[in-house]
Amino acid sequence: MSVHQKSPRRVTTHVLQAMKAKGEKIAMLTGYDYSMARILDEAGIDVILVGDSASNVMAGHETTLPITLDQMIYHASSVVRAVKRALVVVDLPFGSYQGNSRIALESTIRIMKEAGAHAVKLEGGFEIQESIKRILSAGVPVMGHLGLTPQSIYKFGTYNVRAREEEEANKLMEDAQLLEELGCFAIVLEKIPAALTEKVSKALTIPTIGIGGGPAADGQVLVTHDMLGITKDFQPRFIRRYLELFDSMRDAVQHYIDDVKKLQFPNESEQY
Ligand code: KIV
Repeated sequence: MSVHQKSPRRVTTHVLQAMKAKGEKIAMLTGYDYSMARILDEAGIDVILVGDSASNVMAGHETTLPITLDQMIYHASSVVRAVKRALVVVDLPFGSYQGNSRIALESTIRIMKEAGAHAVKLEGGFEIQESIKRILSAGVPVMGHLGLTPQSIYKFGTYNVRAREEEEANKLMEDAQLLEELGCFAIVLEKIPAALTEKVSKALTIPTIGIGGGPAADGQVLVTHDMLGITKDFQPRFIRRYLELFDSMRDAVQHYIDDVKKLQFPNESEQY
């Protein structure tokens, strides 16, 4: 049992910052529904991210762009109902914050009011600073997201590692420092070189949460369906699979089908 399971204390943004100060790593996973969120929370996860990766994982879209604010609110409210301890952070979906800080605030208010979320996450740095300032001024904690930001996939053209070149690495460092100055409570660093993750994490007082960015981040995040092996065909090397659930679940379903066909389910004790 982890230290966290013994303590019923809710994880807040301040707890995460204290964890960084103490050198205790932060564990974050994505969650999109009630049942999975119950499992994550009971296991003692620190942060559940209602990621717009729901667009891929739950809805089968190729990118995160199609998911709507209403759909994110549906996923987030299901997660919030399940959670007793973890901090629930919700992605603002593509089109709900870029370019207009008023719209960014309206989208955030809907997520906080209708889903009961604890914080929001936005992708980008300098370009979206007005939106971040306005959300923060309404008292809502903001998590940043730099590096490979999937909502910009059509600008990048590929899901390859970002910020290998000096110019992009320098811009990422500047953006990270800006996000800290603006008042973000943490920053996701996605798919950047491990050395850059280390440099940024050392330069900031707020926690960094890495995905495909090596061990130096103050915490790690994975898409839950990837680490459980439910998304069978998605296998980038930064994912560690703790289970092969796609295969186990398919086998269980085949077993059920067999039982039904062979009149082996239900048996005498499985009826009234
Ligand atoms: O949407 C998501 O799941 C994310 C994580 C991969 C960081 O943003």
